[in-house]
Amino acid sequence: MATWRGLKVLITAGSTREPLDPVRFLTNASSGKMGYALAAEARRRGARTVLVTGPTALPAPKGVRLVPVITAREMLAASLKRMPGTAVVIGAAAVSDFRPVKTSRSKIKKVGQRGLMLRLVPNPDVLATLAKRRKNGRPVFAGFALETKNLLTAAREKMNRKGLDLIVANGPESLDADFTRATILTREGEMVPYRGPKVGLAGKILDALETFIDRTR
Ligand code: CTP
Repeated sequence: MATWRGLKVLITAGSTREPLDPVRFLTNASSGKMGYALAAEARRRGARTVLVTGPTALPAPKGVRLVPVITAREMLAASLKRMPGTAVVIGAAAVSDFRPVKTSRSKIKKVGQRGLMLRLVPNPDVLATLAKRRKNGRPVFAGFALETKNLLTAAREKMNRKGLDLIVANGPESLDADFTRATILTREGEMVPYRGPKVGLAGKILDALETFIDRTR
C-alpha cells in the first residue's frame, strides 16, 4: 500500500470511436470494466489517479480524475498532456487500430449504392508512443494483450515490442464480462495466472507492478 500513496497513475480505458459520418463509427468490443476497476483500486491504495477514457456506460470511480475522449488520436493527445509526473501508466483501453481515412460530414446514404468501400488508415499506438518517452525507466508501463491464438507468446512479443514492464494476456471471453481469466507476464519472466472477478485482477496487477515502481524510486 505504501508504494502507491501519492503516486500519479495514468490509466487508459474503454474503447475509442472512429467516426464514419455523424451517426456511425468504428469501435471495439470493450466495456471499460477492467480499466475502471484498476482506477478504483489505484485510488483505494492512495494513488493520484487519472483515467483517460473512451465512452463507456460506467459511473466515474470516486476520487479519480476522469478525462473523457472519443477517438484514438484524442486519447493519445490527452494522455501525452497528462504524462508529466506520472509514475505508472496502464493501458487498458481497447483502442481502434484503424480509422476511416475521411469522416463524411453528412449521413452516408444507402439509396443508389450497391455497396460501400471503407478506406482505413492506421491510428497511433497510445501506449507504445507514451512508452517511447520514458526516461531512466520512468514511468513504469503495463498493458493488455487480447489474443485469439498463441496467447502467451503473442503477449510476450507485444510486451517487448511496446517496451512494457508488464502485460496481461487474455482472450475475447473477458470482453464485457465481470469475471476474467488472464495471465500476468512481466519482462523479468514472471507468470501469474488468474481466474476471478476483474476487481481482483486489478489488485494482482498493481501488486505485480510494485517491484518495478520500487526500483524507480
Ligand atoms: N494499445 C494502444 N493503442 C493502440 C492499440 C493498442 O494504447 N492503438 C494498447 C492497449 O491499450 C493494450 C495494448 O496496447 O494495452 C495491446 O492492445 P491489443 O489490442 O492487444 O494489441 P494491438 O497493439 O492492437 O495489436 P494487434 O491488434 O496486432 O493484436
